[in-house]
Amino acid sequence: MSDTPPILQLSNVEASYGAVKAIRGVSLSVAPGSVVTVLGSNGAGKTTILKTISGILDPQKGSIVFRHEKLEGRDPAWIVRQGLVQVPEGREIFPLLTVRENLLMGAYTRPAHEKDEVAKDIEDVYAYFPILKERRDQPAGQLSGGQQQMLAISRALLAKPTMMLLDEPSLGLSPKLTKEIFEIVIRINRERGVTLLIVEQNARIALKYADYGYVLEIGRIVMHDTCAALREKEDIKEFYLGAKETGVREGRRWKKKKTWR
Ligand SMILES: Nc1ncnc2c1ncn2[C@@H]1O[C@H](COP(=O)(O)OP(=O)(O)O)[C@@H](O)[C@H]1O
Ligand SMILES: [Mg+2]
Repeated sequence: MSDTPPILQLSNVEASYGAVKAIRGVSLSVAPGSVVTVLGSNGAGKTTILKTISGILDPQKGSIVFRHEKLEGRDPAWIVRQGLVQVPEGREIFPLLTVRENLLMGAYTRPAHEKDEVAKDIEDVYAYFPILKERRDQPAGQLSGGQQQMLAISRALLAKPTMMLLDEPSLGLSPKLTKEIFEIVIRINRERGVTLLIVEQNARIALKYADYGYVLEIGRIVMHDTCAALREKEDIKEFYLGAKETGVREGRRWKKKKTWR
């Protein structure tokens, strides 16, 4: 990666759920303005990494630094106010609120005097996702899966992020919709300079759009490189890119384990 200091740096981060260690010694860095992906199969620890960064889960060890600020032990809302915003797995939209009300929820950390600016920002995000404008007064629960993903991304934008964490944006979506969503988040990255950290099981799409990638296996980073280089690696081709775009291989390891006895 380049010599510019990272916008986000994780060093030896470890996090558990009770006795279950979910991530161990995770170190990764994200260059400002870049698109970084963390690839891993189901249960590898991808969501845990994002929850640890956004303050939902406290790490037992290690450090997390975002733009010179230490994040460990910080409150999630404080982290959002620093400009680091998560788009959660499974979207977590409010189904009974309208599309527009959901977008307003995204601005909850912003001061009341920014009300007019928030209204303008909502119009700006509609430009990325015109379907949301059409459906602005409908309950969000009536949106399709793809539209709910669009809403979750738009809601995150309302917090005015410098960096967004996306948890499996392709989950449950058709290849066509997945491509559409990725192309829009890449536009958001290019046009607004929003740095992206995208965790995905869908290696094919993530390696196509991201600049740099980490491979996570059972809570540990086992490989990292530019996405161009990762796409050429035999292990990646065989265990991640071999799968059809629509069929993610649940629980499949990226690499054959050497026999240990
Ligand atoms: N709330 C939880 N309580 C206990 N174990 C959990 C919890 N959430 C996740 N885990 C475990 O932590 C590991 C990593 O999970 P997760 O980060 O959700 O993986 P991924 O997002 O890559 O599918 C898995 O073994 C999972 O079973
Ligand atoms: Mg997950």
